[in-house]
Amino acid sequence: MSQRKKTGILISGRGSNMAALIEAASDKGFPAEIAGIISDQPDAPGLAVAAARGIAVQVIARGDFADRQGHDAAIDAALKALSADIVALAGYMRVLTTPFVEKWQGRLINIHPALLPAFKGLDTHRRALEAGARIHGCTAHFVTPEVDGGPIIAQGAVPVLAGDIAEVLAARVLKAEHQVYPLALRLVAEGRARMENGRTVFDLAGASERANSALVAPDLRPLAENLEDLARFTP
Ligand code: GRF
Repeated sequence: MSQRKKTGILISGRGSNMAALIEAASDKGFPAEIAGIISDQPDAPGLAVAAARGIAVQVIARGDFADRQGHDAAIDAALKALSADIVALAGYMRVLTTPFVEKWQGRLINIHPALLPAFKGLDTHRRALEAGARIHGCTAHFVTPEVDGGPIIAQGAVPVLAGDIAEVLAARVLKAEHQVYPLALRLVAEGRARMENGRTVFDLAGASERANSALVAPDLRPLAENLEDLARFTP
């Protein structure tokens, strides 16, 4: 296998997506290795999770810098010190400045808890419920200066069930995130998903229909079974 791509992960909190990437990359056959974790929050619970897995962690606190440019420049320098090829945002809660994003464009990815382009921004699960969506999910995408607007790499769909509240729906989506994000990192690290002219270009020649559909909807098979069950259901 060619050299594994060194990946830096930026977090602000719990770090469950970070943990999913670390777990995937613990397989030596995975095309990316996790070079280090950077948090803008000194008390992010994810820091201890990564340290326990033997991954280098560092805090680059927002408050130590006069402005966002200075903060992002410090993060950029830290990523350079890690020799990072790819940067994965995993619950990183600060909007990155345009120079940073442009520098890393095509190598900077994010996981968002909604099926983009629906529900950009925060509080996605509550908004999906309020909108009456019956399918919700998550999106891994390349990061561009437009927040949550970059080209899509992979998506995972989950059903919205009667009686769902935001927390329950969030937990269902999070499970999909933990499948989709490692998949997206794999595709980017292998060069099978590339950002070109503002679009994602896929190189999936020879991939089976099943493999192709796994890229877009890992959870739709259970959903289809549920729909069959529903069709049989006569009150
Ligand atoms: C996830 O829902 C992710 O999609 C969003 O922020 C949340 C982070 O959760 N960007 P975690 O820190 O990865 O557990």
